[in-house]
Amino acid sequence: MEVIIQPDEKAAAEWAAQQIASAIEAKPNLVLGLATGNTPRKLYRRLVDMHRNQGLDFSAVTTFNLDEYLGLGPDHPGSYRYFMRENLFDHININPKLCYIPNGLTDDVLQECETFESRIEGSGGIDIQILGIGPNGHIGFNEPGSSLGSRTRFKALTEDTRLANAEMFGGQENVPRFVITVGVGTIQEARRIILLAFGEQKAEIVRQAVEGPITCEVTASALQWHRSTVFLLDEAAASKLKRRDYYKYAYEHKWKYLQK
Ligand code: GLP
Repeated sequence: MEVIIQPDEKAAAEWAAQQIASAIEAKPNLVLGLATGNTPRKLYRRLVDMHRNQGLDFSAVTTFNLDEYLGLGPDHPGSYRYFMRENLFDHININPKLCYIPNGLTDDVLQECETFESRIEGSGGIDIQILGIGPNGHIGFNEPGSSLGSRTRFKALTEDTRLANAEMFGGQENVPRFVITVGVGTIQEARRIILLAFGEQKAEIVRQAVEGPITCEVTASALQWHRSTVFLLDEAAASKLKRRDYYKYAYEHKWKYLQK
């Protein structure tokens, strides 16, 4: 686990975009795990720029999104399929057939979850997983109490998560109660993980995820066990880390010993 602290959100988005661009150049059929929410918006904007101005080629890339609300179709503005089209897919040359998001309108949730897992496996597994973190420490929609070995499945949202997502739906009462989410165990199988967190309001939960115990109360803490995770933070989100100066020092100096 590495903690990388960038001066601001823009610099962090640039860092993550560069990682993805180099990975696509090295492996054009890269398998990307994608997240929704406000946090990755700048990263997606930067990837769109790289496609437009530098010819970054997504034509062979496969993507898997973490989650979807049950009951919402792709044309509902609150659905994650809609979000991904608006923020990324419609602006790059990706093959829509290779963009997998759980189907929120499925009438067979168990089958949908099983199919999603086997598609990830069939793709050869996720090369880079992008994550945000919910105010209660969730990754995907793995709410507190989720098994750290969980797979793609049905999940009920907590009220604090419904509140956090209320704006998109014009009020907490309109936020769907049930979702399909990939599991913590599914996420752990990604080869590399980049978790983005920005702003002071994420500082306390980032502290718990990075420096607290591994616990299902904060599902992001499971990443402490992952072999190649970066917590990519701005100064504000890093502000409560007790080893903040150490992380900065280690990152600044590692280039003397490792190739950039
Ligand atoms: C939702 C998503 C998560 C996301 C989280 C944080 O709950 N399911 O994948 O990380 O929101 O959202 P934001 O980035 O808007 O803070």
